[in-house]
Amino acid sequence: MKKVAVVVGARPQFIKLAPLVEALSSRTKLMTIHTGQHYDFEMSDIFFDQLNLPDVDYHLGIGSAGQATQVGRIMAGLEKVFLEQRPAMVVVIGDTNSTLAGALTASKNGIMLAHIEAGLRSKNKNLPEQINRVVTDRISDILCCPDHISILNLKAEGINKNIYLTGDILYDLISMIEPGDDYIDSLLANLGFKRDGFILMTMHRAENVDRPEFLDAIVTGLEILTKPVILPLHPRTEKNLRKFDLFEKLESNANLKISKPIGIRESLALSKSCLGVITDSGGLQREAAYFGKKSYILRDETEWLELEHHGIVQCLGSMPVFDDFNWQAPAIPGAYFARAASRIAEFLLDFLSAV
Ligand code: UD1
Repeated sequence: MKKVAVVVGARPQFIKLAPLVEALSSRTKLMTIHTGQHYDFEMSDIFFDQLNLPDVDYHLGIGSAGQATQVGRIMAGLEKVFLEQRPAMVVVIGDTNSTLAGALTASKNGIMLAHIEAGLRSKNKNLPEQINRVVTDRISDILCCPDHISILNLKAEGINKNIYLTGDILYDLISMIEPGDDYIDSLLANLGFKRDGFILMTMHRAENVDRPEFLDAIVTGLEILTKPVILPLHPRTEKNLRKFDLFEKLESNANLKISKPIGIRESLALSKSCLGVITDSGGLQREAAYFGKKSYILRDETEWLELEHHGIVQCLGSMPVFDDFNWQAPAIPGAYFARAASRIAEFLLDFLSAV
């Protein structure tokens, strides 16, 4: 069997590893490398525990740093592993600095590169995620696209070869660990929430939470909402709320439950049972959509244009104003969502058999 190295490092990648491991581990010699971009228990280990993921083969322990420093350090760590292990293929997922570092290191070492969640695009070319996506797609040998629009985006950039419509690997994850009623009921009882009676909110993107005026608008906006809100806080968001002297004002909102970052089981249970979602996360808007819930997006745009096109997600802009939200979510058109991991596995195995 051929050796395939999957590079992960940030929260959204750990959860997508579960369907990939299931689809690839019996058909390839699968090796997982954790860059250490995320390192707190709630940002990393909790996902391995909850998803029963095998221990990673390598942990680079890179940690937080500036954009270029972090990418450079991850590349240096990965190059050592790649030269030692000589995988036939490297797989990267999404748009984080770990994605870009994995892609550049594989490409510079002449290793076949596959990108999962290829073709997503933002209109803002300066976002770190957009830089990571554009570069990764440009140098990838195999491009696994979650939806039709991603394929069109690649073609518009002159990328025409080895592009596959695979569907969304997050949907596979949901079918693997969809929370049942008993679990949801006990979680909601602990929180004092009723089904369909609360809002799940998250925010973490640098272009939002690094701006005091954004955080101020959110803290004020939350005072207008009449439904209870649960807000699990990303460490970056908490740090900035404290830095801008907004944390105490946020905490004084009796309608709001602030928590540490939550695991994937809790996140899926809450997105399945909430009234709706307010978020700047690409993952949460899809999880909610698959459970028939509407998301209001704390951004000018979403990369998940098909969800926006169908009115399942709605953008509030970069200075969001909270009002009476309409939580009615139209049905999701889901032709290509299911079985993404097994489609991805088929495409990758085809390529592996040729090397
Ligand atoms: C990264 C991704 C982003 C993704 C997000 C998911 C990049 C450029 N951005 O953003 O696309 O949506 O992950 O969460 O890769 N921190 C901790 N503990 C941790 C991890 C981070 O305290 O375990 C704090 C540190 O102060 C760090 C800050 O969060 O400096 C930002 O972490 P970083 O990995 O640079 O980016 P994210 O904001 O998490």
